[in-house]
Order: sequence, then structure tokens, then C-alpha cells
Amino acid sequence: MRLFIDTANTDHIRQANDLGVICGVTTNPSLIAKEGRDFVEVVKEITEIVDGPISAEVISMDAEGMLKEAEELVKIHKNIVIKIPMCAEGLKAASKMSKKGIKTNVTLIFSAQQALLAARAGATYVSPFVGRLDDVGAHGVELLSEIAEIFALHNIDTQIIAASIRTPKDIVLAAQAGCDIATVPFNTLMKSIEHPLTTQGIERFLKDWESVPKK
Ligand code: G3P
Repeated sequence: MRLFIDTANTDHIRQANDLGVICGVTTNPSLIAKEGRDFVEVVKEITEIVDGPISAEVISMDAEGMLKEAEELVKIHKNIVIKIPMCAEGLKAASKMSKKGIKTNVTLIFSAQQALLAARAGATYVSPFVGRLDDVGAHGVELLSEIAEIFALHNIDTQIIAASIRTPKDIVLAAQAGCDIATVPFNTLMKSIEHPLTTQGIERFLKDWESVPKK
């Protein structure tokens, strides 16, 4: 399973990219709004940091509008992936974009049937939301497993991006469920590096090193 970072904060993207563990970025209108910067300017900067798929979301609610936005966004860089909300107009737009060779990420997926429809419309990626399902008492990881099973059974090559990841454990569960990618917020990514026994182990090695005779 590959890792993307789920943020529009370019400092965080730079730090995560320097770790060498991420190979793509996902953004959404809420993450862009949090940065208080121009959308196109942020997306352009992200393409200069990470050489991999960069999801930029459209905000039109009709297929024609989505397509118009997409045609402008893909001019920014060859790595741009158009993020489309799951809805009837979104499916139409994904289908049109797929025929034009534009890569798409159908987002806000909360059921396996939505994932299957998006895949059949030609989506390059689908983004099921784990944390938001957990928030309402459902089991987000079960959805990941269902989608992974269906896609494997029917040789569907649409890739599954586990989104709305909240904890390091979610990353492990997404990998076990067979997702292609997990898109991870910066703080969750940084938390995943740590383990108290690793910290203790490093401290002990350094302490013991002090007693090694030095010439
Ligand atoms: O990629 C979608 C993700 O950003 C949603 O996360 O934490 O707002 O549910 P969250």
C-alpha cells in the first residue's frame, strides 16, 4: 500500500516528502480553505514539491461545470487528478473525463455500491472515508474490505484510496484491507513514526555509548 498526504499545507507536504515515504497528495475544499491561500497557487506549489498524483477537487455541482473546472486544473501540471464528489452529476463528469484521458478521484464514498458505480464510470481512484463512518457508529474499515474484495473479484483496476484516516492504526487496517493507497493527515503520519520503546531504545544506546572508551 502506498501513502499519500492529505493536506494543502505546503510546509507539511515538504516535511513529509523529505521523509521519502509519500508519493502523492490529496486536498479538498476544506483543506484548501484552512490555508487561506489562492487555490491554484497552492496546487501549483504542491506539484513542485511532490512528483506524484495530486488531487484537486472541483466545486461545481453539474457535470459540465465540473468538466470546465477540470480542463483548467489539468493545465497546472500533468500530475493533477480531478477530485469529484460522488453524485449523479459527478459520475457523468468522471465518465466524460475518463474518455478524455483525465484522471479522476471520486470522493465522499460511503458504500460499496457507490465505489462500484464510480469505478464503472471510469474513475482512476475512489476515496472511501473511514473516520467519518466511524464517527457515526459505523465501521469504516469494513467498507474498505468490501470494496477491495469486489474490485479484486471483478478485476476492476480503479485504485482504492483509504481517506478520512484519523489514527496510525487506521493506516495498518487500510493496508490489511487491501487498499492501494492511504491518504494520511500530517499529524497521523508523524505519530506513526514514533514508538515509546524506540525512543527508550535510542536513549539507552546513546547512554551506553558514553561508557565506551574513546582513544
Ligand atoms: O481525504 C478526505 C479527508 O480529508 C477527510 O478527512 O478527517 O475531514 O474526515 P476528515
